[in-house]
Amino acid sequence: MSAPSNLDRAESVGRPLREEPRPATRLRARHLLGIADLSAEEILLILDTAEAMKEIGARPIKKVPTLRGRTVVNLFFEPSTRTRTSFEIAEKRLSADTLGIAVGTSSVVKGETLADTALNLEAMAPDMIVIRHGSSGAPHLLSRICRSRIINAGDGMHEHPTQALLDAFTIRAHKGRIAGLKIAIVGDLLHSRVLRSNVLLLKRLGADVWVCGPPTLMLPGIEQFGVHATTSIDEALADADVVMMLRIQLERMQGGFFPSLREYFNVFGLTAERARRAKADAIIMHPGPMNRGVEIASDVADGPYSVILEQVANGVAVRMAVLYLLEGSVA
Ligand code: CP
Repeated sequence: MSAPSNLDRAESVGRPLREEPRPATRLRARHLLGIADLSAEEILLILDTAEAMKEIGARPIKKVPTLRGRTVVNLFFEPSTRTRTSFEIAEKRLSADTLGIAVGTSSVVKGETLADTALNLEAMAPDMIVIRHGSSGAPHLLSRICRSRIINAGDGMHEHPTQALLDAFTIRAHKGRIAGLKIAIVGDLLHSRVLRSNVLLLKRLGADVWVCGPPTLMLPGIEQFGVHATTSIDEALADADVVMMLRIQLERMQGGFFPSLREYFNVFGLTAERARRAKADAIIMHPGPMNRGVEIASDVADGPYSVILEQVANGVAVRMAVLYLLEGSVA
């Protein structure tokens, strides 16, 4: 006799059947605006797809025809090394036609608005626009007025979804999972879009997230997201599986948030001695760019437990996965 099915069991106790979560096979939204819009299943779909994309990057000829005939505009209003370059490499590996708009030499400097800039680019019929902007919500505005698919490459202090996805990909590569890991995120919490996207993603996948920074750089209400908040780096690092250091964002600070950079390093900087409070096999992460000697000591950043350059490498595979799932997997 065969074992009773879930349906049999549910009927036998007179309760409606509760559906098991099913693996996602596609993304529901047309755009990638933030981690807030992704279910756990969609996040896992992106990470699994990125595994396949990573394999393409290991081939002698790192190119597939998936996005042949599609045009992607990279519109960066803020400086970027890692995100802009890895999006461009990802687009080229998928055979898209790519275009980088140098905002400093565009008509933005003559006062053209973001909306007008986007609508004029749209008139040339791109399929996707990757945007980084200093204002929170800029990609959301574009998603309302543009026909193209919009990818958020960092908006103000709001979200940086592809950074959180590549961070999760890197953690999973080392630890095999996200659920149940103690993950300490230390630094300038207040100004960090990386923090916001990581908290949403890591909590959605079941991590035990600790955030730490000086009281002046703490994010009010962060505990509502189910994270532990502390001003003690020793408490945050104790037995952590993953240590993620965040950059002090001096360009977003007006006024003194701490007495001096030296003082900040003394209290919150990740030194080799402090890193020993974490688990023996803990990995050290940083989204970049790093302020060496401010939030992280050079010997830790370059040390054996650092996965900082792996994060950068994984950014290409993760962005290929996002581009593919948004544009390449639809007719
Ligand atoms: N991590 C990150 O967003 O780096 P860039 O500013 O160089 O893109």
